[in-house]
This record gives sequence, structure tokens and C-alpha cells, in this order.
Amino acid sequence: MSSELAAVARAMVAPGKGILAADESTGTANKRFTPLGIPETEEMRRNYRDMLFTMPEFGSYFSGVILYDETIRQNGRAGKSFVDVLQSDASFPGIKLDTGVQPLALAKPEEKITEGLDGLAKRVDEYVKLGAKFAKWRAVITIDEKTGIPTDACLHANAHALARYAAICQAGGLVPIVEPEVLSDGNAAQSIETSFAVHERTLHHVFNELHRLNVKYEEMVLKPSMVVPGQKSGSKASVSEVAERTLTILMRCVPAAVAGIAFLSGGQGDEEATAHLNELNVLGKKLGAPWPLTFSYGRALQHAALTTWKGDDKNVDAAQKAIHHRAQMNSLASLGTWSADAEKGLVLSR
Ligand code: G3H
Repeated sequence: MSSELAAVARAMVAPGKGILAADESTGTANKRFTPLGIPETEEMRRNYRDMLFTMPEFGSYFSGVILYDETIRQNGRAGKSFVDVLQSDASFPGIKLDTGVQPLALAKPEEKITEGLDGLAKRVDEYVKLGAKFAKWRAVITIDEKTGIPTDACLHANAHALARYAAICQAGGLVPIVEPEVLSDGNAAQSIETSFAVHERTLHHVFNELHRLNVKYEEMVLKPSMVVPGQKSGSKASVSEVAERTLTILMRCVPAAVAGIAFLSGGQGDEEATAHLNELNVLGKKLGAPWPLTFSYGRALQHAALTTWKGDDKNVDAAQKAIHHRAQMNSLASLGTWSADAEKGLVLSR
């Protein structure tokens, strides 16, 4: 089966390429600027995104970029719209469509639901006219072993919202990135075994709802979290255990027709996220995983560049080198050919 959307979805996960998540809301972008003393203004957010998107060889590593509403309407520093900047580098502009999370009514404390379905078809139309080719919606699943969350009610409500969003996107001409994130950062203290079990429940709910609402798997990209222990669990898993557990869940829950899987980084260290992706690909090849496995990182791609840039024009070159390096390393990892030597710059070819 082929369609224009299926072709876009396949191109988003083309060999050696991944997706840059640069869709931080104004509040989140400002929160990242504050500790670095970067002024929290529209101009500085524009300059920062300009630094990222004009990185040399951008389109060789990034098949697309997830943008926030402010950015998809902005012009870069040279006067061209960011949409044109990306398109001229063969990178698809994408758009974050959810409007954030709220407490889930009548659920347990800490359970959240992602909002943004009202009027969504109209917003999709507008973003398609602005040049968007794909979209993202993030559901947030919190684990607390003491209070017994997530409940099935929370998993079902979030899966249903993801499926409604995905169906509206496909009907309106956008490839949906379906992102159910099982949180492992912040206060997350779950063991890797609990993370494994919750990922399995979450993905079963998500694919049940996607199927029920007629979402075409060939025209979507899944953006899951990896199966890791919570950051406050006091335990650490090996790279091979993370890859094995993550792939086991994906093989159990994700239909082979899904165009591709692009992971979020979820608070992992830059190199850690790369090492995990690489091992997932090495193991995926051995086990015959049917989908391309790549990256759609936010923090693990941007962290080094942002802390190098610091809002100062004279740091643009160095900051672009920093994101270029992470892009190159993750590109290698998406092919299963990354190594610690490559990280040190000793091996450069793909
Ligand atoms: O929604 C979250 C982003 O798309 C991915 O961000 O890689 O920093 O977790 P992250």
C-alpha cells in the first residue's frame, strides 16, 4: 500500500536520518534559557532555532524538525521563513499539535491527560497551508509503584486521545508522530521491571485505539520512550538490557506495518541515548525487527549546542559543531555502526 503520507512517513525514518524535536513551548524554551542567562524573548528563541536549523549538512542528518506554533510562523535571521529554510535543506517541517497536559479528572493524583483535540481539524488545515508535513502529540504516563499508577483508565484515555489526533492528522494530510512517553526522569523511581510492564500495557492500549479508529499504520511514526529504570530508582541498567527489554516490548506490541520508530531521549545523557539507539539497531538486525529504529531527540540533541551557544553570536559556529556532532553520532547509531571511537572523532565515515 502506498500513498503520499506513507511516502513522507518512510522518508522521516530514511536510513541514517532522524527527527530533531525543537518544539519546546515558549515556557519550556524560556526555562532552558534561564540558567544560562539568555534573555527570554521571541528574538532569542528565533536566534536559537536559527542557529540549529542553519547547521551545515542539516538535511543529511535530519529528515524533519518538530516545530512549535511560534517557530512555524517565524522567519530566520536571513529573512527566509523557517519552513523554507528547512524545505530548502530537504528536511520536513512538522508541528506539535497537543496543547499540553492537565490532571485527568476523577483519576489518581499525578495522572495526566493530554489536551488539544477541540478544533484540531481546523488547526491541521492551517498548518498544512503553512507547509507542515507531519505532526506530534505527546501523552505522558507517570509511574508510581506506591499509589499504583498508571491505572487502565489513564492509559485508555491517553491512548484514545492519541488515536483521535492521529486519525484527524491523516484525514487532514499530516503524518502523525504518536508519542506515548512513559516518564523516567524527574521523580520517577520505578525499577526497570516495572518500566517494562508499563511500556507493554501502554503500547497495547495505544495500538488497540489506533486500530479502533482506523489509523493507517503505514502513515504514522511511533515515538516511544526506551525501557530504562526511573532516574530516582538508584539503579542503572546496562546498554544491552535496555535494548533487549525495549525491543521485546516493541516486537510484542507494534505492528510491522508501522513506517518507523523514532525514540525520544527522556532525560538520558547525550551519549547514553546514542549508545542505547545503537544497541537497539544492532539487536534489531539480529532479531529481524521490521521497522527502522531512529532518533527524535530533544534534549539529547540540543543540550550541548544550547550550553555552548549561551545566547551569544560569537558562539554560533561552536554550537553548530556541537549539534552536528550529536547528529552525526545518532545517525551512526540509527544504522547500528556507532562506537566509542566514533564519539571521540576517530571514525568519521557512515
Ligand atoms: O516530547 C518530547 C520531545 O519530543 C522529545 O524530547 O528527547 O528531550 O525527551 P526529549
